[in-house]
Amino acid sequence: MENINLEKKHAAKAAAQLIKNGMTVGLGTGSTVNYFLDALANRISQENLKIIGVTTSFKTAGRAKSLGITIIDIDDAPMIDLTVDGADEVDCHMNGIKGGGAAFLMEKIVAHNSNRVVWIVDSQKLHEQLGSFPLPVEIVPFGSGKLITDFKKHHLHPVLRQRDGKTIVTDMGHFIVDLVLNKIDQPYQLGQYLDGKIGVVEHGLFLDIVDEIIIGTSAGVRQLK
Ligand code: 5RP
Repeated sequence: MENINLEKKHAAKAAAQLIKNGMTVGLGTGSTVNYFLDALANRISQENLKIIGVTTSFKTAGRAKSLGITIIDIDDAPMIDLTVDGADEVDCHMNGIKGGGAAFLMEKIVAHNSNRVVWIVDSQKLHEQLGSFPLPVEIVPFGSGKLITDFKKHHLHPVLRQRDGKTIVTDMGHFIVDLVLNKIDQPYQLGQYLDGKIGVVEHGLFLDIVDEIIIGTSAGVRQLK
Protein backbone atom coordinates (compact mmCIF):
# COMPACT_ATOMS: atom_id res chain seq x y z
CA MET A 1 0.00 0.00 0.00
CA GLU A 2 2.83 2.36 0.91
CA ASN A 3 4.42 1.61 -2.43
CA ILE A 4 1.19 2.27 -4.30
CA ASN A 5 0.77 5.60 -2.55
CA LEU A 6 4.35 6.49 -3.47
CA GLU A 7 3.61 5.65 -7.11
CA LYS A 8 0.44 7.76 -7.01
CA LYS A 9 2.42 10.67 -5.54
CA HIS A 10 5.07 10.40 -8.25
CA ALA A 11 2.43 10.46 -11.01
CA ALA A 12 0.59 13.34 -9.32
CA LYS A 13 3.74 15.45 -8.96
CA ALA A 14 4.67 14.90 -12.61
CA ALA A 15 1.18 16.00 -13.69
CA ALA A 16 1.38 19.12 -11.52
CA GLN A 17 4.46 20.13 -13.53
CA LEU A 18 2.28 20.27 -16.67
CA ILE A 19 0.23 23.15 -15.28
CA LYS A 20 1.10 26.59 -16.62
CA ASN A 21 0.18 30.03 -15.38
CA GLY A 22 -3.27 31.16 -16.56
CA MET A 23 -4.59 27.67 -17.29
CA THR A 24 -8.11 26.49 -16.61
CA VAL A 25 -7.60 23.00 -15.20
CA GLY A 26 -10.10 20.15 -14.98
CA LEU A 27 -9.73 18.49 -11.59
CA GLY A 28 -10.61 14.79 -11.44
CA THR A 29 -11.62 12.78 -8.41
CA GLY A 30 -9.98 10.18 -6.20
CA SER A 31 -6.96 9.53 -4.01
CA THR A 32 -4.40 10.06 -6.80
CA VAL A 33 -6.04 13.35 -7.75
CA ASN A 34 -5.89 14.36 -4.08
CA TYR A 35 -2.10 14.08 -4.28
CA PHE A 36 -2.23 16.11 -7.49
CA LEU A 37 -4.30 18.82 -5.74
CA ASP A 38 -1.70 19.00 -2.97
CA ALA A 39 1.14 19.32 -5.50
CA LEU A 40 -0.80 21.91 -7.51
CA ALA A 41 -1.66 23.96 -4.42
CA ASN A 42 2.07 23.97 -3.54
CA ARG A 43 2.99 25.27 -6.96
CA ILE A 44 0.25 27.90 -6.81
CA SER A 45 1.51 29.29 -3.51
CA GLN A 46 5.24 28.96 -4.22
CA GLU A 47 5.18 30.27 -7.81
CA ASN A 48 2.18 32.58 -7.46
CA LEU A 49 0.44 30.78 -10.35
CA LYS A 50 -2.99 31.99 -11.42
CA ILE A 51 -5.04 28.84 -12.02
CA ILE A 52 -8.76 28.26 -12.29
CA GLY A 53 -10.20 24.81 -11.56
CA VAL A 54 -13.26 23.04 -12.92
CA THR A 55 -14.18 20.14 -10.65
CA THR A 56 -15.66 16.70 -11.32
CA SER A 57 -17.28 16.01 -7.94
CA PHE A 58 -18.49 17.75 -4.82
CA LYS A 59 -15.63 16.06 -2.92
CA THR A 60 -12.96 17.49 -5.21
CA ALA A 61 -14.63 20.90 -5.14
CA GLY A 62 -14.50 20.92 -1.33
CA ARG A 63 -10.90 19.80 -1.21
CA ALA A 64 -9.74 22.20 -3.93
CA LYS A 65 -11.42 25.13 -2.19
CA SER A 66 -9.87 24.17 1.15
CA LEU A 67 -6.46 24.26 -0.56
CA GLY A 68 -7.14 27.76 -1.88
CA ILE A 69 -7.66 26.75 -5.53
CA THR A 70 -10.17 29.00 -7.33
CA ILE A 71 -13.10 27.00 -8.71
CA ILE A 72 -15.63 27.94 -11.38
CA ASP A 73 -18.64 26.16 -12.82
CA ILE A 74 -17.99 24.26 -16.05
CA ASP A 75 -20.51 26.44 -17.88
CA ASP A 76 -18.59 29.57 -16.89
CA ALA A 77 -15.31 28.22 -18.28
CA PRO A 78 -14.80 29.29 -21.94
CA MET A 79 -12.48 26.27 -22.26
CA ILE A 80 -10.63 23.77 -20.13
CA ASP A 81 -6.96 23.65 -21.11
CA LEU A 82 -6.00 20.45 -19.37
CA THR A 83 -7.79 17.92 -17.19
CA VAL A 84 -5.89 15.70 -14.77
CA ASP A 85 -7.79 12.69 -13.48
CA GLY A 86 -7.22 9.21 -12.08
CA ALA A 87 -8.49 5.90 -13.46
CA ASP A 88 -9.31 2.47 -12.09
CA GLU A 89 -7.87 0.44 -14.94
CA VAL A 90 -5.99 1.37 -18.13
CA ASP A 91 -4.67 -0.53 -21.14
CA CYS A 92 -1.87 0.19 -23.59
CA HIS A 93 -4.41 1.39 -26.20
CA MET A 94 -5.01 4.43 -23.95
CA ASN A 95 -8.47 3.28 -22.94
CA GLY A 96 -9.68 2.82 -19.42
CA ILE A 97 -12.35 2.19 -16.83
CA LYS A 98 -13.30 4.92 -14.39
CA GLY A 99 -15.92 5.35 -11.73
CA GLY A 100 -14.63 3.57 -8.65
CA GLY A 101 -15.19 6.88 -6.89
CA ALA A 102 -18.68 7.28 -8.42
CA ALA A 103 -17.76 10.52 -10.21
CA PHE A 104 -17.39 9.28 -13.79
CA LEU A 105 -20.42 11.12 -15.23
CA MET A 106 -19.02 14.52 -14.28
CA GLU A 107 -15.50 13.30 -15.11
CA LYS A 108 -16.55 12.31 -18.62
CA ILE A 109 -18.30 15.65 -19.21
CA VAL A 110 -15.25 17.59 -18.04
CA ALA A 111 -12.90 15.39 -20.09
CA HIS A 112 -15.09 15.79 -23.18
CA ASN A 113 -14.82 19.58 -22.84
CA SER A 114 -11.05 19.65 -22.31
CA ASN A 115 -8.33 20.40 -24.83
CA ARG A 116 -6.10 17.77 -23.24
CA VAL A 117 -6.71 14.94 -20.78
CA VAL A 118 -4.00 13.33 -18.65
CA TRP A 119 -4.56 10.37 -16.32
CA ILE A 120 -2.39 9.66 -13.33
CA VAL A 121 -2.28 6.05 -12.09
CA ASP A 122 -0.16 3.63 -10.10
CA SER A 123 1.53 0.79 -11.96
CA GLN A 124 -1.00 -1.86 -10.83
CA LYS A 125 -3.72 -0.24 -12.91
CA LEU A 126 -2.14 -1.05 -16.26
CA HIS A 127 -3.63 -4.29 -17.68
CA GLU A 128 -3.42 -5.99 -21.05
CA GLN A 129 -7.20 -6.18 -21.32
CA LEU A 130 -9.86 -4.10 -19.56
CA GLY A 131 -12.46 -5.72 -17.35
CA SER A 132 -10.84 -6.94 -14.18
CA PHE A 133 -12.19 -3.77 -12.55
CA PRO A 134 -16.02 -4.00 -12.50
CA LEU A 135 -17.46 -1.57 -15.05
CA PRO A 136 -19.54 1.18 -13.38
CA VAL A 137 -22.77 2.23 -15.07
CA GLU A 138 -24.72 5.25 -13.80
CA ILE A 139 -28.46 4.67 -14.05
CA VAL A 140 -31.67 6.56 -13.34
CA PRO A 141 -33.29 5.35 -10.08
CA PHE A 142 -36.74 5.06 -11.73
CA GLY A 143 -36.99 1.61 -13.25
CA SER A 144 -33.52 0.64 -12.04
CA GLY A 145 -34.79 -2.82 -10.97
CA LYS A 146 -36.01 -3.50 -14.50
CA LEU A 147 -32.70 -2.38 -15.99
CA ILE A 148 -30.74 -4.58 -13.58
CA THR A 149 -32.90 -7.57 -14.55
CA ASP A 150 -32.21 -6.77 -18.19
CA PHE A 151 -28.44 -6.62 -17.56
CA LYS A 152 -28.68 -10.00 -15.81
CA LYS A 153 -30.44 -11.49 -18.84
CA HIS A 154 -27.58 -10.19 -21.00
CA HIS A 155 -25.02 -11.90 -18.70
CA LEU A 156 -23.51 -8.60 -17.61
CA HIS A 157 -23.48 -9.60 -13.92
CA PRO A 158 -24.76 -6.31 -12.45
CA VAL A 159 -24.30 -5.41 -8.81
CA LEU A 160 -26.11 -2.36 -7.44
CA ARG A 161 -23.50 -0.30 -5.59
CA GLN A 162 -24.31 -0.02 -1.89
CA ARG A 163 -22.52 0.97 1.28
CA ASP A 164 -23.68 -0.16 4.74
CA GLY A 165 -26.84 -1.57 3.16
CA LYS A 166 -27.75 1.75 1.52
CA THR A 167 -27.76 2.36 -2.22
CA ILE A 168 -25.10 4.89 -3.23
CA VAL A 169 -26.51 8.03 -4.83
CA THR A 170 -24.15 10.00 -7.09
CA ASP A 171 -23.62 13.76 -6.99
CA MET A 172 -26.09 13.97 -9.88
CA GLY A 173 -28.75 11.91 -8.04
CA HIS A 174 -28.39 8.57 -9.83
CA PHE A 175 -27.58 4.96 -8.83
CA ILE A 176 -24.52 2.98 -9.90
CA VAL A 177 -24.49 -0.60 -11.11
CA ASP A 178 -21.11 -2.34 -11.35
CA LEU A 179 -20.87 -4.92 -14.14
CA VAL A 180 -18.60 -7.75 -13.00
CA LEU A 181 -17.22 -8.88 -16.35
CA ASN A 182 -13.64 -9.97 -15.57
CA LYS A 183 -12.65 -9.22 -19.15
CA ILE A 184 -14.09 -7.00 -21.85
CA ASP A 185 -13.39 -8.44 -25.29
CA GLN A 186 -15.12 -5.72 -27.28
CA PRO A 187 -15.09 -2.44 -25.35
CA TYR A 188 -16.42 -0.31 -28.24
CA GLN A 189 -19.34 -2.66 -28.83
CA LEU A 190 -20.15 -2.78 -25.12
CA GLY A 191 -19.92 1.01 -24.90
CA GLN A 192 -22.34 1.41 -27.80
CA TYR A 193 -24.75 -1.10 -26.27
CA LEU A 194 -24.75 0.79 -22.95
CA ASP A 195 -25.07 4.17 -24.71
CA GLY A 196 -28.28 2.89 -26.30
CA LYS A 197 -29.95 1.57 -23.14
CA ILE A 198 -32.89 3.56 -21.81
CA GLY A 199 -32.22 4.44 -18.18
CA VAL A 200 -28.44 4.43 -18.55
CA VAL A 201 -27.04 7.91 -17.96
CA GLU A 202 -23.37 7.09 -18.60
CA HIS A 203 -20.85 4.27 -18.28
CA GLY A 204 -17.29 4.13 -17.04
CA LEU A 205 -15.66 3.00 -20.28
CA PHE A 206 -13.45 5.90 -21.36
CA LEU A 207 -12.46 5.10 -24.94
CA ASP A 208 -10.30 7.46 -27.04
CA ILE A 209 -10.60 10.21 -24.46
CA VAL A 210 -7.19 10.42 -22.80
CA ASP A 211 -4.11 12.00 -24.44
CA GLU A 212 -1.47 10.86 -21.98
CA ILE A 213 -1.24 8.43 -19.09
CA ILE A 214 1.36 9.04 -16.40
CA ILE A 215 2.13 5.82 -14.59
CA GLY A 216 3.83 6.18 -11.24
CA THR A 217 6.62 3.76 -10.41
CA SER A 218 8.65 3.41 -7.22
CA ALA A 219 11.52 5.27 -8.92
CA GLY A 220 9.53 7.94 -10.78
CA VAL A 221 7.12 7.83 -13.70
CA ARG A 222 6.66 6.47 -17.19
CA GLN A 223 4.34 7.80 -19.83
CA LEU A 224 1.93 6.33 -22.34
CA LYS A 225 1.01 8.70 -25.18
C1 5RP B 1 -13.66 8.32 -9.69
C2 5RP B 1 -12.59 7.76 -10.54
C3 5RP B 1 -11.21 7.78 -9.99
O1 5RP B 1 -10.41 8.50 -10.85
C4 5RP B 1 -10.72 6.37 -9.89
O2 5RP B 1 -11.61 5.66 -9.05
C5 5RP B 1 -9.30 6.29 -9.36
O3 5RP B 1 -9.27 6.57 -7.99
P1 5RP B 1 -7.96 6.47 -7.14
O4 5RP B 1 -7.03 7.53 -7.63
O5 5RP B 1 -8.43 6.72 -5.72
O6 5RP B 1 -7.38 5.10 -7.30
O7 5RP B 1 -12.80 7.33 -11.64
O8 5RP B 1 -14.90 8.22 -10.31
